[in-house]
Amino acid sequence: MADFIRNPVVALPDPNPESYFSEEELIFTEDEKARIAGWVSQYPTSDGAVMWTLWLAQEKFGFLPPEVLQLVAAELSLPYAQVYGVATFYTQYFKEKKGTFVLDVCTCFSCQFCGGYDILAYLEEKLEVKRGHTSACGRYTLQEAECLGACGSAPMMQVNNGPYAHNLTPEKIDELLEAMEAGKPLPFVSVTLPQDEDEMGGNRRTDAEAVEGYITPPRSERTQ
Ligand code: FES
Repeated sequence: MADFIRNPVVALPDPNPESYFSEEELIFTEDEKARIAGWVSQYPTSDGAVMWTLWLAQEKFGFLPPEVLQLVAAELSLPYAQVYGVATFYTQYFKEKKGTFVLDVCTCFSCQFCGGYDILAYLEEKLEVKRGHTSACGRYTLQEAECLGACGSAPMMQVNNGPYAHNLTPEKIDELLEAMEAGKPLPFVSVTLPQDEDEMGGNRRTDAEAVEGYITPPRSERTQ
């Protein structure tokens, strides 16, 4: 038997997944269904709306266990395998429960070259959690991420699928963690840039200062 069949590189779905939500909880409301239908109407086929719908589901349920992926598949009339494939491709979709703060540390080429693994190791030691896991206190999930598109200010990490912290150093990490612990606004010097070129006047790199304080709204809200 081929090795990739015995040892698949992607985790296969659990055939007996744990149930997290009751039948009453595991639904989309009429309003949510209308929003999903609106996204579907923008594409030739319903799979075009799968990422929006997964995002909406994650914001609603907090994470995407198999039963939620099945709900999304049913709503879009898609095979479960297709929805599972999309959800498992992106670290931004949470397939299991995460901590209060999800720290995605980029270790792709530029960040790796500029110390991304040092940052990751520093966080592991500081938070007493291994990459890919959630701290015992349940507050921090530490993840290794692929390129997040901010290579010019490596090493960097993303917090809770939102703000970016650029040009990381151990001192800056300390400052960030202190703010998180104190429940204060995060002291980032720069954040995610808007996805819309028009919002940036067509210039996404040099306007970084101009968007200081910009908070990216959840994507599903931006499509209403
Ligand atoms: S390599 Fe880290 S953001 Fe691109």
